[in-house]
Amino acid sequence: MVLVIDFGGQYNQLIARRVREANVYCEVIPYSASIERIKSYNPKGIIFTGGPASVLDEGAPKCDPGVFELGVPVLGICYGMQLMSVMLGGSVAAATQREYGKVDINVDKSQPFFKDVDENTTCWMSHTYYVDNAPEGFKVTATSANCPTAAMQNEEKKFYAVQFHPEVMHTPKGKEMLRNFLYSICGCKGDWKMSAFVENSIKAIKEKVGDKKVLCALSGGVDSSVAAVLISKAVGKQLTCIFVDHGLLRKNEGDEVENIFRKQFDINLIRVNCEDRFLAKLAGVSDPERKRKIIGEEFIRVFEEEAKKIGTVDFLVQGTIYPDVIESGHGDAAVIKSHHNVGGLPDYVDFKEIIEPLRNLFKDEVRKAGEELGIPEDLVWRQPFPGPGLAIRVIGDLTKEKLDLLRDTDYIFREEIKAAGISRDINQYFTVLTNMRSVGVMGDERTYDYTLALRAVTTTDFMTADWARIPYDLLEKISNRIVNECKNINRVVYDITSKPPSTIEWE
Ligand code: XMP
Repeated sequence: MVLVIDFGGQYNQLIARRVREANVYCEVIPYSASIERIKSYNPKGIIFTGGPASVLDEGAPKCDPGVFELGVPVLGICYGMQLMSVMLGGSVAAATQREYGKVDINVDKSQPFFKDVDENTTCWMSHTYYVDNAPEGFKVTATSANCPTAAMQNEEKKFYAVQFHPEVMHTPKGKEMLRNFLYSICGCKGDWKMSAFVENSIKAIKEKVGDKKVLCALSGGVDSSVAAVLISKAVGKQLTCIFVDHGLLRKNEGDEVENIFRKQFDINLIRVNCEDRFLAKLAGVSDPERKRKIIGEEFIRVFEEEAKKIGTVDFLVQGTIYPDVIESGHGDAAVIKSHHNVGGLPDYVDFKEIIEPLRNLFKDEVRKAGEELGIPEDLVWRQPFPGPGLAIRVIGDLTKEKLDLLRDTDYIFREEIKAAGISRDINQYFTVLTNMRSVGVMGDERTYDYTLALRAVTTTDFMTADWARIPYDLLEKISNRIVNECKNINRVVYDITSKPPSTIEWE
């Protein structure tokens, strides 16, 4: 395995994903990790990420210097390069001209790190400081017009460093460089495969659970579904899934979830239909945060009631995935929306231990594991769906009629996107029933009906997103179908804001 030491760079997870895409297992740990902890992983290589700080600042993040004594190859990226330089006796200076964006560099092709890379290649730079004096024993292996040390290495000690970002797609040969580091320099085999992960997980869960009872809250989303199927493959009927159908799901979704889990995987499933209960609690509530809180609390209450009927269980499954567990190298984020996740229930249920079978996987890896387990493609590639469901896509107060109307429009939108063959190009797309009415004309009649918004975004991490450039013709078709097929909608608008400044959901 390879360790990624995080100095708070915005691409820290991307580096880890690139490493895993090369079929090398890796984990991200904060720069403050002790050398004992680092050693305990027995890594074959270490990568330092970039970071927002300057190594010249007092209190700049530093890792334990012991990493340079492990006899393991180290690759420093951006801030990681500058840190390596300073920690090993070199120096760093402020650049007269900041480099940001695509930059041409010249590389020493004879070096294993640059195997299969052209002598003149493009890379992505984003830095204000640069290494002006490489530490002793290092040689410069790449330069750019404004950066005399775009890459450096100490071959004997196997320390490598690049000022640019090989992990981003704007460095076209970045993948090759990272693979060269992993395979040729660290000696990784690149044999970490999803089928092996699934097989090993099943074995490990079997051992851990023995003949005990397991409980899982199923939302119908990708993570909890993959976790449930994985556990059921290991322990069969010892697993019980509780599926709280709060009536805020998409059209037919509740039945689809039930069918897949009951029929295809023969999982013990308790479906609790409690649409009326949720709608009663939500009646007259239009504040988004209150809606979220009510749904989150009620969800827990229903789950708790059902779990009580089952009695004590030994294990509770949580669909936690790797991005949730990475301890970041820096920063506390502001709470923009109180997210509700079906996983966050442990205080309320009588259980002894939590199992998190997906805690080491990225989202795309969870999907691969799902495919490996034979979960239908439609479910595995399902776009994210917020815990509070359609409640936060009906702006203002909720009624069953509004929810049904929204479900019909959403169904049409999804059907058309799928028919156009672009469902995997858009990361999330849905409709929003705005609380606004406007005047229209249908036939010879005046109408005064709802305005519906279409929202579609492309994103890799859902932290930032761009609005999707859906072709006009397709938008027209969707708009026509919605207005013709869904009573009470006489206007369709397309949301063309990115995140930030907007968020993906409207509430
Ligand atoms: P925003 O609207 O914050 O959404 O840009 C980012 C992503 O998170 C999803 N989302 C949620 N997911 N519980 C969830 O599990 C929630 O309460 C929740 N609210 C938003 C949203 O759909 C998008 O993918």
